[in-house]
Amino acid sequence: SKPSSIRSAGALPQPVLSQPAPVAVFLVVTMEPGGEPAVRDLLAGLAGLVRAVGFPSPDGGLCCVAGVGSAAWDRLFEGPRPRRLHPFEELEGPRHRAVATPGDLLFHIRAARTDLCFALSAEIMKRLRGAVTVQDEVQAFAYFDSRNLLGFVDGTENPVGRAAAEAAVVGDEDPTFRAGSYAIVQKYVHDVDAWEALAVEAQEKVIGRSKLTNIELDVPGSHIDVNTVTGPDGEELEILRGAMPFGRPGHGEFGTYFIAYARTPGIPESMLRNMFLGGPESGPDPILDYSQAVTGTLFFCPSATFLEAIPEEDDPD
Ligand code: HEM
Repeated sequence: SKPSSIRSAGALPQPVLSQPAPVAVFLVVTMEPGGEPAVRDLLAGLAGLVRAVGFPSPDGGLCCVAGVGSAAWDRLFEGPRPRRLHPFEELEGPRHRAVATPGDLLFHIRAARTDLCFALSAEIMKRLRGAVTVQDEVQAFAYFDSRNLLGFVDGTENPVGRAAAEAAVVGDEDPTFRAGSYAIVQKYVHDVDAWEALAVEAQEKVIGRSKLTNIELDVPGSHIDVNTVTGPDGEELEILRGAMPFGRPGHGEFGTYFIAYARTPGIPESMLRNMFLGGPESGPDPILDYSQAVTGTLFFCPSATFLEAIPEEDDPD
């Protein structure tokens, strides 16, 4: 058969580039010993499953991206590995910690409606029952005009169109895994009482944008300043963020589920180092005084073409 790098030449990505949606589910699971065949079957059939659940509701925009963790990759697949896949690197800063938490598979489900996300999660879990242990399941939602639970508009500086694909999708640097994407997820919980005790001007200095009008402010050391990273030629290095609010007010839980898609994990990792350890010119990110990371995991989301080519378990090949 053809070398895998030639087979992947026309590979299509999973829907990592899809538009922000009103509802999302983030499902992170670990694989039980012996769970591999069920997981491979689910991944091979995932596109069909999304079609089955989503087709009757064409305006629902249902989509799902599946990611595989570093250790799980070798349990599931033979042959070469995505070049830059490794476990999430925990960071211990002077005041804040980016924890690494278990996760073999990520399902990032998005739709215009809660019922579609729910129905797809249920179908996925039905097929994985006994094969996996759920580590985290978060139902997230769009909040007012794309705001997070700190009250600020989130996602403004995300790349769009061609720039989004350039930032998020693997190209010729790893031909076998062309059209794949790395995903870093972190679940953050906010101290909203402390945040709301700040004056709006102080909040704006933390974020680096005005709260009402969303205009960029020149504040060294702010969240957006710390996260502006540049390459050797001074070009800005980008990631594609899909963070969404979640919470349970009755339990005092107010959070941001952060997800970054990247062509190489090195870019979000350097942002995280700036945030947690401090950068060359600034201390740790002030947003962390009001936000605690309670999970952290790195996944590789292979191309849709790769998933479809996973052989069925009873396949003679
Ligand atoms: C920008 C919120 C975590 C990377 C922003 C903005 C907000 C925000 C409100 C400004 C508007 C925008 O451009 O989206 C948050 C919250 C977080 C969080 C509430 C969790 C507590 C992170 C993490 C990373 C990150 C973990 C990187 C790994 C960025 C980048 C920008 C940004 C790259 C755009 C900077 C620019 O203007 O060029 N974030 N963020 N954020 N954030 Fe975050």
